[in-house]
Amino acid sequence: MPDTWETLERECNGCRACPLGAGRQHLVFGDGSRTAEIMFIGEGPGQREDEQGLPFVGPAGQLLNDMMEIIGLDRSKVYIANIVKCRPPGNRDPLNTERDACLPWLRRQTALLRPKMIVCLGRIAAQAVIKPEFRITKEHGHWFRKAGVWITAIYHPSALLRDVYKRPETFVDLKAIQAKAREICERTDLSTP
Ligand code: SF4
Ligand code: URA
Repeated sequence: MPDTWETLERECNGCRACPLGAGRQHLVFGDGSRTAEIMFIGEGPGQREDEQGLPFVGPAGQLLNDMMEIIGLDRSKVYIANIVKCRPPGNRDPLNTERDACLPWLRRQTALLRPKMIVCLGRIAAQAVIKPEFRITKEHGHWFRKAGVWITAIYHPSALLRDVYKRPETFVDLKAIQAKAREICERTDLSTP
């Protein structure tokens, strides 16, 4: 049977394919519009996300909302998912084995969404989605094209909370994302007040 969003989410909610499944309060499947042209991909749930079952609802999520607002986006216009769906203990990076166990869920989400553009948030997402040797400090804001999808990466909002000096570069990257989206995402309104 081909996936629907409903069957995929139900199946994912029962997943125990890696040890992170045992530690979760809630699985964090994704949020936003299932018809969006733009997909944001983060790393994995933190404490708030694990409590609520939604991605980017803690401090990093607050900043992500502000970053999207700068370029005329919000959660009704994008889809947001993570590399791993269950919280790594103590917010450590997901292990490669956990990432690899979880990636099929993201691939199936991407296959259903068929986004025009993917924005990776931080190194972990960029290395999983773009290329294993991706260097976020050198390659943020670069564009890649895979299977007809435009893909880029920006600093993770958590990194921008820790290091405000990364924010000007991220502003430039966000404006470039807005310009590219205006070019290729004809259904998405990117106007700002
Ligand atoms: Fe399954 Fe992913 Fe959760 Fe691991 S992190 S149990 S692979 S949903
Ligand atoms: N950081 C992430 O990468 N994803 C979330 O959902 C929350 C914080």
